[in-house]
Amino acid sequence: MTQNTSSAVMQQRHEPHESLDDFPTHPWATRAFMEHVFIPRWGRPVGKSVWEPASNRGFMARPLAEYFSIVRSSDVHDYGVAPDTNGCPFIHDFLFPGTPPIIGPDWIITNPPFRLGADFARRGLEIAREGVALFVRTAFTEGVERYNTLYCPHPMALKAEYAERVPLVKGRCDPKASTATAYSWVVWRKGEEDTRFTIIPPCRKELTRPGDYDEAAS
Ligand SMILES: C[S@@+](CC[C@H](N)C(=O)[O-])C[C@H]1O[C@@H](n2cnc3c(N)ncnc32)[C@H](O)[C@@H]1O
Repeated sequence: MTQNTSSAVMQQRHEPHESLDDFPTHPWATRAFMEHVFIPRWGRPVGKSVWEPASNRGFMARPLAEYFSIVRSSDVHDYGVAPDTNGCPFIHDFLFPGTPPIIGPDWIITNPPFRLGADFARRGLEIAREGVALFVRTAFTEGVERYNTLYCPHPMALKAEYAERVPLVKGRCDPKASTATAYSWVVWRKGEEDTRFTIIPPCRKELTRPGDYDEAAS
């Protein structure tokens, strides 16, 4: 096997602590989650709402709008992009305590900033009516502290790993990028506490659509 030395590999999301963790998700990766994980288990979310609370440039919110009837998106930083969702994106710190600006979305789905993933999960569980799904590094489920403070008190419904890696790069979605970092979905759903595991089959080519990378070119 040849060693991959692309810039995507070298970056591997080694970000300064205070960074926003600006790593947009390829649209095909969100469709893969919906087609191979969400819909087979919980059906098409027709009539349901989702909040993408770290929406960045909308690369995850837009494919979510292909499935959910209502999509709201927000981010702590203004990226100056208007995602094509049902509601205008707005500026909001998702971890700000108190009453959230959106009450009772059925789902909260996002790729959170890496170092705040556990906080996003806990906040999401306070807010979402039905479930929380986070796109995280596969190694996210390792760690004694996270086990004690997240997975033990809040058992997951599911972990889903990608057979085909999702290459994230800083500040853009690059269709030509490659990566050595593995990503997965961790999902909490009310009433499902017996954590299952599944593998998302290779589907990048099949689930990439024309226009998916338009924002990346801007
Ligand atoms: C890994 S990027 C995810 C982008 C987007 N979810 C996607 O999948 O394309 C993390 C995002 O989290 C945002 N962020 C960081 N801290 C936040 C906070 N406390 N509340 C809301 N968004 C935050 C950053 O601005 C950044 O856009």
